[in-house]
Formats: sequence, C-alpha cells, structure tokens
Amino acid sequence: MEIRDRSLAQAGIDKINWVTAYMPVLAKLEQELKAEGVFRGKRIAMSIHLEAKTARLALLLKNAGAEVAVTGCNPLSTHDDICAGLVELGLEVNAWYDASPSEYERHLINTLSIMPDVIIDDGGDLVILLHGKYKALAENLIGGCEETTTGIQRLCAREGDGCLDFPMLAVNNARCKHLFDNRYGTGQSSFDGIIRTTNLIIAGKTVVVAGFGWCGKGIAMRAKGLGAKVVITEIDSVKAIEAVMEGFEVMTMDEASTIGDVFITVTGCCDVIEKRHFSQMKDGAILCNAGHFDSEINILHLKELSTKIEKRRKNIVGYSLPSGNTVNLLAEGRLVNLAAADGHPAEIMDMSFAIQALSLRHMLLEGPKMSRKVYEIPKEIDEKVAEIKLSTLGIEVDKLTEAQEKYIKSF
Ligand code: NAI
Repeated sequence: MEIRDRSLAQAGIDKINWVTAYMPVLAKLEQELKAEGVFRGKRIAMSIHLEAKTARLALLLKNAGAEVAVTGCNPLSTHDDICAGLVELGLEVNAWYDASPSEYERHLINTLSIMPDVIIDDGGDLVILLHGKYKALAENLIGGCEETTTGIQRLCAREGDGCLDFPMLAVNNARCKHLFDNRYGTGQSSFDGIIRTTNLIIAGKTVVVAGFGWCGKGIAMRAKGLGAKVVITEIDSVKAIEAVMEGFEVMTMDEASTIGDVFITVTGCCDVIEKRHFSQMKDGAILCNAGHFDSEINILHLKELSTKIEKRRKNIVGYSLPSGNTVNLLAEGRLVNLAAADGHPAEIMDMSFAIQALSLRHMLLEGPKMSRKVYEIPKEIDEKVAEIKLSTLGIEVDKLTEAQEKYIKSF
C-alpha cells in the first residue's frame, strides 16, 4: 500500500458517500452480483482515474466478494483523499496525486502484484506492462476491460500486430458508455474544470474545439449553451459536415489559432496545437486538453518558444511568447475535467461503471473461451444497463407487440 496521507480518509469517504447516493444503477447491480457470487474470491487490478465514482465501482466489486487493488491511470487525476478513504474501507491502493513517472509505474506494478484474474484498464498502461517486463504478473489473467477510446486504439493496434496476449472488452464502445460519458460527461465536466480553474466567463468568447468525436460533440454543445462562439477543427470530412450542420464554424487550426479565446483539444491524436499555432494566438488565450494523453498540445514546443514561464495560479501556467502575448495552459495539458475538477457527474458514471461491472462479470464467465482479441460489449449488457437506468428514473418505454415484431422481421 502506498498512498499520500491516511488522515484524509474521512474527506474521501464523505465524497464517496455523496456520489453513491446518485448512482442507483450500481446499487442495484451490487445486490445482484453479491447474491450471484461470480466475483467471490476473484482478484481484480484496476488502473483508472482515481476519484469518488471510481471508488464506488471498486467498492461494488469488493462488496461482491472480490479482492481489489486500485491505482490511478494519470498522475494528476488521482485524489489523495479518495485513496485514503478506500484504504480505510479495506482496499489495496497504490497511488498519489502528481506521482513522478517512476512512482506512477511503481504504483501500477504494485497493483498488478496481486496476480489478477481480471483487470480494468483506462488508457492501456496495465496492458502494456503485462506484455513487457511484467508478463509474469499475468499468469492467472483471464482478460480485462478497457474504459476509453485511446486505450481501445492501443489494444486494436496490438491485436493487429498479433501480439495481444489475452482478451479485452471495449467498454468505451458500449452505447451506454460513449453516448453519455464521452458526450454529456466530458461536455459538462470540461467546463467545470475550465471555469473553476480560470474564474472567467465563457459567454461571448470564441471556443475552439479540436475533434468532433463523441467528446468533442459534448464539449461543443455545452460551449454553445454557455454562450460561446464555437469553432471546430477536424481531420474527418464527414464529422466536419456534421459540425457545420450543428451550426458551428469549421476551419483549420492554422486559422482558428488566430481567433480563439479558449482552445480545447479532444482528438486522441498528438501535436494538434503546435509551434506555429502558439505563435499567432491572442494575448490571454486559454489552452486545455480533454483527450486521454497530454500529447495533444505540444508542450515542448510551447516551452521552447517561451521567453518566460510563470505559474499564475493553481493549475494555470502562463507562457510569454516572442509576439509579446501570453497564453495560459491549464492542468499541464492533461485531461482538464479530471486534473482540474472532479471528472464526470455521478449519474453518468453510474452507467459507465455498470457497463464495467457487467463486462468484468462477462470476462470472468466467458473469458476462458475467448481468443486473444478485442471484443465489443455484448448488446444484452447495454440493454440491461439502459433498462435499470430508465427504471431508476421512473420512465417506462413501449414494447413491440407480436404483430410489430413480425412486421419488422418480414422485410
Ligand atoms: P472519437 O474517436 O469519437 O473522436 C475523436 C475525433 O478527433 C475524431 O472525429 C477524429 O477525426 C478527430 N481528430 C483526430 N485527429 C485530429 C486532429 N489532428 N485534429 C482535429 N481532429 C482530429 O473519440 P472520443 O471518444 O471523442 O475521445 C477523444 C479522446 O478523449 C480520446 O483520447 C479518449 O480516450 C478521451 N476521452 C476523455 C474523456 C475525459 O474524461 N476527458 C472521456 C472519454 C474519452
């Protein structure tokens, strides 16, 4: 166990209890999974943004009978009070905020040292270790679940090269995950991070969103709702047309960099904003990223260009450029909604983590028969989570009659 400060436990437990009250889908599943016993005695290693909702998922798995070891998946998204709370509640935790690269890796390795039966990964760092120097820690491994778009891309690349050693389920691709988590979750929580960090207004500003995928759509939607003029940059022509039809301006980053007040990258790509873009930005421009890795804004270029680098307040560093203008980078270019705020709302993660819990159950039951591939989430899992969510909202939907079902199938 390696955490920063055990005395923070009560603050962490208070936060976990708060979100628990707004995660009824997980509460319902916890009862079911506990009674069923599939998780009993199983060892689970989790590397995931370590905040209150994740803690709720970890506790569900523990309450369902598993031995759970938890670490973060990004040094700046780990909350030390949550780590302390989880330790107090009996979990094995190895993580702290602002871990150095070597500490971060040590925490991942310590987490894997429980010799897991299944893993939950977010971004692919556990999987990388289990294919390299720490292969031996995968001795008992059946397979795992990957939470995010970027992690799935890394897994698919590995599968394509024929070097994925165990089956993985693509949790992000479940409809009850990306339609809500990536879109509404990232949309709201990115602005939570930007607003609480800068204390500035969004209305009237030009907000440039790089990437109009599921996350970008949510961010653009919320920027519009807050009164911003929204500009989209894309590399996919179809997505660009979608953005136009939504009423947004679409242009290249070369153009956008001259007019933007706030830049939010969310592409999963690298160097989306680089040297030539910084040089032509307005004084006071705000730069942040909501994509998985801190590679979307080229911070090395920013450092090389700058005549002065100054911490302006928590989570804001000002870079003075030869143009005489200063641009402000939030949260070191790491996911702004997690590194500078509390991540997605609880009601959203209730669905994402319900998908995780049921996918992990699926992996325990079916994994031994699966190949070394990346699998989509079975549609029954999506449907089950949607049905429970609707029931917790007190909403009923129509059911096909026999005649309707016959009609649809008759084509
Ligand atoms: P997506 O694949 O739906 O969308 C990415 C979009 O970016 C695509 O439309 C693609 O054409 C575009 N794109 C790629 N390279 C580009 C470039 N150089 N310039 C402009 N556009 C470019 O992916 P999704 O689900 O929206 O995820 C995006 C990133 O956000 C991933 O890294 C993912 O892991 C991460 N993510 C972050 C979350 C958070 O809490 N902040 C939550 C969920 C995902």
